[in-house]
Amino acid sequence: MAANREDFEAMPQAGCPMSVEEVDLFAPGAQEHWYDAYKLLQEDAPVLRLPGQGYEPGADAYVLTRYEDIRRVVRDPDLFPTRQGPGSSGTSEIHDRIFEDEGFGEVVTARERLRPDIESHKAHREQLTEPWVGASGALRHRDMITEHANRLMDAWIDRGEVEFVTEFAAPLPQAVISTILGFPLEDMPMTKQWEEAQVRRFVYGFGPKSQMEAPDEADNARALVAFNRYIQERIDEKRREPKEDMITFLTQVEFQGKPLSDGDIISVVSGMHIGGNETTQYALTSEAMLLAQHPEVADELRADRSKVRFFVEEALRLYAPTQGLSGRMVARDTEIHGVKVPAGSLLHLRWAAANRDPELCPAPDELRLDRKNPGKHLTFSIRPRGCPGAGLSRLEQNIAVNVMLDRLEDIRLAPRGNDFKHQPGIMLGLYELHLEFAKAREAVAVG
Ligand code: HEM
Repeated sequence: MAANREDFEAMPQAGCPMSVEEVDLFAPGAQEHWYDAYKLLQEDAPVLRLPGQGYEPGADAYVLTRYEDIRRVVRDPDLFPTRQGPGSSGTSEIHDRIFEDEGFGEVVTARERLRPDIESHKAHREQLTEPWVGASGALRHRDMITEHANRLMDAWIDRGEVEFVTEFAAPLPQAVISTILGFPLEDMPMTKQWEEAQVRRFVYGFGPKSQMEAPDEADNARALVAFNRYIQERIDEKRREPKEDMITFLTQVEFQGKPLSDGDIISVVSGMHIGGNETTQYALTSEAMLLAQHPEVADELRADRSKVRFFVEEALRLYAPTQGLSGRMVARDTEIHGVKVPAGSLLHLRWAAANRDPELCPAPDELRLDRKNPGKHLTFSIRPRGCPGAGLSRLEQNIAVNVMLDRLEDIRLAPRGNDFKHQPGIMLGLYELHLEFAKAREAVAVG
């Protein structure tokens, strides 16, 4: 089993599918042809059955690619709930067992304990995460984000070229979420490795369940136990010496009439850490790529900064960082788009396909800054369970694009180094993006 890029690329790579029968969204190499595959699926198999790929023995998985079908599923949490039980919080039974053995069992059960239903899910979001990463809560981080963006750019702006992923798109969200949580920035090399362990199954796992083989699963769970210990140390520190950060807040807040336990806090912090890093990295990378590919758009945005938010929404719609998630189950026998789907099936929702469904908007493959409802895409999913960190991510992207437009001119793709290869899994992430640019003449740090 491959658990890194080299091993993965040594495997036979999928070609571009010519028919529905040839579509396997989870095969190595399939990520380079996802958008061709989505068109085939939407036309001929909008509810694609993957026999035996559900969670229970004999249960199937179904891949949904049409906008209205996915929207209907997300809006109906009674008929299409999230999965409960061991391995249900985006992990696996091996992972959960190791956590229990190492004294972190409470972290695994936190979701079922703290928010077993939609009402408590809503309260959890409103009271615990929105004040820090929700649309208005995130605004308090504006200056901090701007400072980090400028500081990162200072390191390479005089060079006239940059490998944008490692020198900006990855460290910016990491510095931002570390600051919000209250992780020391000097720990970033270490927390980066744990963040990679958090997403490993979504990159190197196979099939709609993103499964890794048992030894990889166990190794990874042990790495995450070390991360839990690290978070535990930060909690202990903040209880002794409170600071102005999210972990301190979580040690002081009451939820459902009582303080959060350390296991509860670790579960919230882990969620912020996995959500707050790579997804935004991929979005920032796509935005830089689009600016380089469309200099006329960069000029238009420079001339009218009110269009930046439309640009960000279009980039999110066109290149959804989280392409799909197996996030819902079927509670009772039902029908989706005329296909009978039995109770107990797993639903894999392809947000990225829905975003380019002609039902959503005309010319869905085009970047247009004048769309009527630019934020109507499903990149962050939608309520009642949509992404709680969308506000923070949108703010980071808007700030980063503005800083790029302020300080860089003539942004272009470097003639060498760009192979535009993406990592496998369920996320759309360019490994590298080499850019060249001129330093803007009146460049002033905005921080
Ligand atoms: C471009 C950036 C991002 C994308 C594309 C993204 C996408 C998503 C999606 C599609 C979901 C699933 C929602 C559902 O099942 O209906 C989700 C959940 C989640 N996201 Fe994000 N997200 C991003 C940024 C963030 C940030 C910045 C944070 C935190 C700071 C975050 C934290 C979370 C958490 C904790 C969940 C799980 C919520 C739950 O348990 O119900 N995300 N995100």
